[in-house]
Amino acid sequence: MIAQDILVVGGGLAGLAAALNSDPAHKVAVISKVHPLRSHSVAAQGGINAALGNNPNGKDDTWERHAFDTVKGSDYLADQSAAELMCKKAIPTIYELEHLGVPFSRFPGGVIAQRPFGGAGFPRTCYAADRTGLVILHALFEQSIKKKVKFYNEWLVTRLIVRDGKCLGVVVLDLTTAKIMPIKARAVIFATGGYGRVYLRTTNAYINHGSGIGIAYRAGIPLKDMEFVQFHPTSLLGKNILITEGARGEGGYLLNNKGKRYMADYASSAMELAPRDIVARATQTEIDKGNGFEGQYVHLDLRHLGEEKIKKRLPAIREICMNFARIDPIDEPIPIQPAQHYSMGGIDVDESCASFVEGFFAAGECASVSVHGANRLGGNSLLETVVFGRIAGEEASNYVKGSENNEEGEKVLLDEASEIKSRIEEWMRRDSGIKVHLLMNKLKVIMSEKVDIFRDKRNLAEALERIRKLREDYNQVYISGKNLRFCQELVNIIEFESMLDLAEVITLGGLNREETRGSHYRMDFPKRDDKDWLKHTLVSWKDGKSQIGYKDVKIEKYKPVERKY
Ligand code: FUM
Repeated sequence: MIAQDILVVGGGLAGLAAALNSDPAHKVAVISKVHPLRSHSVAAQGGINAALGNNPNGKDDTWERHAFDTVKGSDYLADQSAAELMCKKAIPTIYELEHLGVPFSRFPGGVIAQRPFGGAGFPRTCYAADRTGLVILHALFEQSIKKKVKFYNEWLVTRLIVRDGKCLGVVVLDLTTAKIMPIKARAVIFATGGYGRVYLRTTNAYINHGSGIGIAYRAGIPLKDMEFVQFHPTSLLGKNILITEGARGEGGYLLNNKGKRYMADYASSAMELAPRDIVARATQTEIDKGNGFEGQYVHLDLRHLGEEKIKKRLPAIREICMNFARIDPIDEPIPIQPAQHYSMGGIDVDESCASFVEGFFAAGECASVSVHGANRLGGNSLLETVVFGRIAGEEASNYVKGSENNEEGEKVLLDEASEIKSRIEEWMRRDSGIKVHLLMNKLKVIMSEKVDIFRDKRNLAEALERIRKLREDYNQVYISGKNLRFCQELVNIIEFESMLDLAEVITLGGLNREETRGSHYRMDFPKRDDKDWLKHTLVSWKDGKSQIGYKDVKIEKYKPVERKY
């Protein structure tokens, strides 16, 4: 049986940061279901926040101001000490990335360039044109190769094994051979990313089924604040490819079908650079009111920025528009619509990325520390991956130093692996049933229609009922092909179980939370209610069903007040 001291699951930014910062005295490996350079981190465009004060309009910026903006942006649901930790560490983190080889864009004179982003009091988003995630991922991957980190690529983790409150390892499916294998580990770090593909319209990659979050949930680890789903206001019409907030940071306008900069009616001071929840809601409202085009979209207009700026600062956006919409944003406005983008909620961990299960850690989008609360600010997610990825690696290393080798765990791992083998054999044996992709589509439609930007009790309750009904249908899925190597149908069947769990948890949390906060907008409860709802939601899988509970938010320096932009 393969055995590791520290097993990192996920080859995106949080996973690579965790592996690079794990103690090299330990045996460390990364498992990734795709090649690490195909992780969703490559899709992050606009930048990464840190109060460097390099922009002439941002000289007075400080990490404390960054922390305040983050807490205010979160609609006061972020744990304030966690937000402070992240924002303080942001500054050395950017310089470390620079030294590791990240080619940040520069201002004249050579300092790292910074652009304005939504909800930020100062222009503090560092960037590499509009390919920031891609270049950081490449730099960290190169460093991982240099440091000889062991990678198991195209291996899908199917189960996290926990006994008596201790993590024993995982069971994986090697996609290239279709072999099921137990892997023993003293510590496991999940850095498995988000679940955007639970929705029909999402900026997320096709790999983002959220199965890591679902696997942790099934292993008994609570999920926190899952009802807070971020919708990005500007995805390309129809394709839903991200059109970065950096485009508005560089001065782009949002226009309705009357040619009006409609944000004046929703956030008259911040305008297009209000936080995402506000801009996404405003955009959807304009479309719903009939102020959009063809009932579906509005315009993001960059034309006034001029050819030189667009080519220099937003080259990938231009390429995306030319390749996928046949328009050149130098000459024409971009048709955009909101789409699911990010998960504020995730696996419940503390500031050291530790869960209540000994030896199990999580970092990045799959985790909820929580630094984003009810709404994340743009540019804080890349930051979260590298800051908390590092912390997870360091903390797992400390944990492993004091842990014992658990010989008895091997039998449990082998039993769990053979149970998964039997499930696969059963799916293979059936020669008819329901094809999983049909169920996936049904789920996505339910989530996009009923658990979207605007929510209410009737729709959420109906969604919950329909999701639960899909569970019954899931019992009838089968594998129609005969070859299990690189079998996407098998992957989908395995991951769909998690998608169902996550959809249920998101919907349940949203149904119970009878208030509006951040991204969670209840039309039937349109006000924030700090008296009853200034608390984190925790949903756990216990005795074969979901159970909901709550825990306090860490409120320290910043007293909750009404958000105004
Ligand atoms: O719009 C963007 O570039 C996205 C950034 C983010 O989600 O942080």
